[in-house]
Amino acid sequence: MGAKVDIPFFPVVNFPVTAQVEGCVPHYLGERREFVREQVKRQLIEQDAVLVAHYYTDSELQEIAEETGGFVSDSLDMARFGNTHPASTLVVAGVRFMGETAKILNPEKRVLMPTLEAECSLDLGCPAEDFVCFCDIHSDRTVVVYANTSAEVKARADWVVTSGIALKVVRYLHDRGEKMIWAPDRHLGRYVQKMTGADMLLWQAECVVHGEFRVRALERLVGQHPQAAVLVHPESPESVIALADVVGSTTRLINATRELPNKEFIVATDNGIFYKMRQAAPGKKLIEAPTFGEGATCQSCAHCPWMAMNGLHNLLHVLETGDNEVYVKESVRVEALRSTQKMLDFARQ
Ligand code: 13P
Ligand code: SF4
Repeated sequence: MGAKVDIPFFPVVNFPVTAQVEGCVPHYLGERREFVREQVKRQLIEQDAVLVAHYYTDSELQEIAEETGGFVSDSLDMARFGNTHPASTLVVAGVRFMGETAKILNPEKRVLMPTLEAECSLDLGCPAEDFVCFCDIHSDRTVVVYANTSAEVKARADWVVTSGIALKVVRYLHDRGEKMIWAPDRHLGRYVQKMTGADMLLWQAECVVHGEFRVRALERLVGQHPQAAVLVHPESPESVIALADVVGSTTRLINATRELPNKEFIVATDNGIFYKMRQAAPGKKLIEAPTFGEGATCQSCAHCPWMAMNGLHNLLHVLETGDNEVYVKESVRVEALRSTQKMLDFARQ
């Protein structure tokens, strides 16, 4: 029998989906684009910098990261890469928690981001003050937080996890008889709880992108493409996960397009991932899972508004000016390092 899940008193946090429209960045074309790309590459060398980009960022940035010895990955491997690469400056294209994680792990390095305004609804939905209070009320529980949180929240946690390692860590803690607090993503928390049977108290925030996938429309799409495998990131609602052939981190989903024999895939995660999926499985058909915005005006889409704020223009700007450096207060960093390092050590086992 699965363990009981208590729902704490914090409300579900909803964010206006119109923010997604505001996140779009300008794109350069033709000769101008080539010029800016070359400038970025030159600056990376001059600044002894390496570009680390998440799969959800613009394909332009992913391409440059690949062409310059940088790295494109999920949030777990972004953390690992920054930690091992010798460059003295890390340029993190992604959202704020990714830059902060890089700084937590690499205090001696300069960490820059194309924008410091790229948030994450999970991070925003878990304010540190409320979270600390919640943990204090349930002080008998081990505190496990998703990497999509602020440095302050990580500092209060016993463990940090990403979607790539959450199941393993929670299973390990459950086997040791530990009860847990899980924050902030309620859907990922529910999925992990269901898969492990662990006793988890779930915080109630959600992702503005994955929370938008719609099960009825997805069922119809699956009916139209019966040969397609359905790939779902576990930040999606439980009803959407129930239709999945593969559930996993962004890396896991990319690998599935290569490993599975299917010629078609319905993908329920941010569509920035298609750049890497096309590389992994050339010739295969990738279909976006439907969101609330399907058939309507621009209400929602499968693209993170904050990831979309990273572009060539602001990447070049930070390299030229040194603007947008990430700082984490040292007392917070030391505590956040403790819970984050635990994850990296566990991943190595
Ligand atoms: P991954 O760790 O799977 O890359 O997920 C990060 C994220 O923000 C998903 O929305
Ligand atoms: Fe956060 Fe969702 Fe954007 Fe990922 S896709 S960074 S979870 S808002």
